[in-house]
Amino acid sequence: MSVRIAPSILSADFAALGTAVAAAEAGGADLIHVDVMDGHFVPNLTIGPPVVASLHRAATVPLDAHLMITDPDRYIDRFADAGAAAISVHVETTPHLHRTLEHIRSHAVRAGVALNPATAVSTLSEVAADLDFVLVMTVNPGFGGQKFIPGSDAKIARVRRLLDEAGNRAPIEVDGGVDCGNAARVVDAGAEILVAGAAIFGTPDAAAAVRALRAAATAPVRATVAEG
Ligand code: DX5
Ligand code: ZN
Repeated sequence: MSVRIAPSILSADFAALGTAVAAAEAGGADLIHVDVMDGHFVPNLTIGPPVVASLHRAATVPLDAHLMITDPDRYIDRFADAGAAAISVHVETTPHLHRTLEHIRSHAVRAGVALNPATAVSTLSEVAADLDFVLVMTVNPGFGGQKFIPGSDAKIARVRRLLDEAGNRAPIEVDGGVDCGNAARVVDAGAEILVAGAAIFGTPDAAAAVRALRAAATAPVRATVAEG
């Protein structure tokens, strides 16, 4: 299984996002993960469609817009028009999720659903066949640089089982606290797209960090201490 790396610009220098994107791409980034926050669904406020449009002009890889906003249906057209190639919405914010996914796909944009750490995998059961990807939050959304929530790898495996039972080979994207220490484990659990902010832009060399994360993700899972 090939692993894709999606650096999250939330941890980049917002005064130099073009430079950050170029560095990530130089390291082989497959996507650029763009965290959109409204200060309502999550306790932080970031960027919107105008910045996504600028990023779209600067990037050569697809933009992966993660909408941590209430009532995302109001903005899907604008993020699609700004150049997002993938849009994920939170199941916690979408009472009409099936219609929202159709709305995203009507723009030929990949439609994903994000799950907060406390949200059950079963919330996806009725749309499991209609998803282009699932974004599994392994931190509580709102900030970069947090620690991976222990036990999240088991949730990744449950999402994989749900998608497989629905006959959907859609990939699982993992988001939050991913680094070289846990990358192989989350891939082993079923993740195919790794979002990383601090592990990439919190380092002096983002390009090298992308390469290191991909190497760590594709290395054999190190036996845990318990396994000796
Ligand atoms: C958190 C965001 C994540 C975050 C990842 O709400 O959705 O994408 O930027 O950053 P790290 O990898 O530093 O946890
Ligand atoms: Zn994110």
